[in-house]
Amino acid sequence: MLSPEIAIAGVSLRFAPPGGEVRSHLALSDVSFTVKPGEFVAIIGPSGCGKSTLLRLVAGLLGVTEGDVRVGGTKVERVPGGIGFLFQSDALLPWKTALENVVMGATLAGRDRAEALDKARFLLGEIGLAKSADKYPSELSGGMRKRVALARTMAYEPRVFLLDEPFSALDAQTRIHVGNRFLKILETLGQTVIVVTHDIDEAIAMADRVLVMTASPGRIARAFDVGLPRPRDYYGTRFEPGFRDLQEGIWDILRREMEGVLARD
Ligand SMILES: Nc1ncnc2c1ncn2[C@@H]1O[C@H](COP(=O)(O)OP(=O)(O)O)[C@@H](O)[C@H]1O
Ligand SMILES: [Mg+2]
Repeated sequence: MLSPEIAIAGVSLRFAPPGGEVRSHLALSDVSFTVKPGEFVAIIGPSGCGKSTLLRLVAGLLGVTEGDVRVGGTKVERVPGGIGFLFQSDALLPWKTALENVVMGATLAGRDRAEALDKARFLLGEIGLAKSADKYPSELSGGMRKRVALARTMAYEPRVFLLDEPFSALDAQTRIHVGNRFLKILETLGQTVIVVTHDIDEAIAMADRVLVMTASPGRIARAFDVGLPRPRDYYGTRFEPGFRDLQEGIWDILRREMEGVLARD
C-alpha cells in the first residue's frame, strides 16, 4: 500500500486570543484522515466549521494545538515545500500582468527567466487565456483572475494542491466554465488535491472522496467514496447514475449540522 501523502491524526486547534480561556475558540476537534498520493479529496461543511483552518494547518501556515499533521511523511512544522495553495481570494499582484503573475510561480519553482516565460505562456494557453497574457488583473473578469491564479499555482509544480473555495466568487455560469477547465487540468496532472467547498454537487463532481465536516468545532462526520468514472464533466457528471444517492447522503448530514447551528443561535 502507498503511504499517504497527507496524514492528519487527532488534530485539534484552539484559537487563543489574548483574554484567556473565555475568549478562546475550539475550531477543530480530533480530526483524522489521510489522503493518498494522487487522490482528489473534497471537504465540505457548514460555514465556520474550520475548513479553511484545516487547509492552513496542512500548508504549515498555522500550528496544531493537539495531534499531528504530516505531508509526504514529514511532520509539518513550517511551510513545507511542494504545496500550492489557492486562497479564497485570488491574490494576484495588481501591478503585474497575467503573464508575469504566472512567471512568478515558475520562478519560485527554480526556473530561469526563459524557462519560466515558456512555462507561463504554455499554462495560460492551457487555461484559455493566451490572448490575455499582457493584461493586468484589473482588466480581467473574476473567472479569468481565478484561472490566472490557478496557472500561477501550477507553474510552481506543487506535489499537493490545496484549493479553498476556488469558485465561490463566480456566478453560476462562469463557475461551470471555470470548474470544467480546473477539473480537466487537475485530472491530467494527477496531483494530490484537497478542495474545500460548500457546494455538494461540486464536491461530488470533482473528488474521489468527499469528507463531510460537522458544525463547529469541526470533526469529520463521514467520508463518501465517489467512484464515478473519469474524466468527468463539472456539470454533466450530476446526471450519472449514483450521483443522486451521494447528494442525498451528504445533504442528510449537512442539513442536520446546519439545523444544530441554527438551534444554538
Ligand atoms: N485567526 C483566528 N482567530 C480566532 N478565530 C478564528 C481565526 N480564524 C478562524 N477563526 C474562527 O474559527 C472558526 C473556523 O474558521 P474557518 O476555518 O475560517 O471556517 P470555514 O472555512 O469552515 O468557514 C470560525 O469560528 C472562525 O471565526
Ligand atoms: Mg473558509
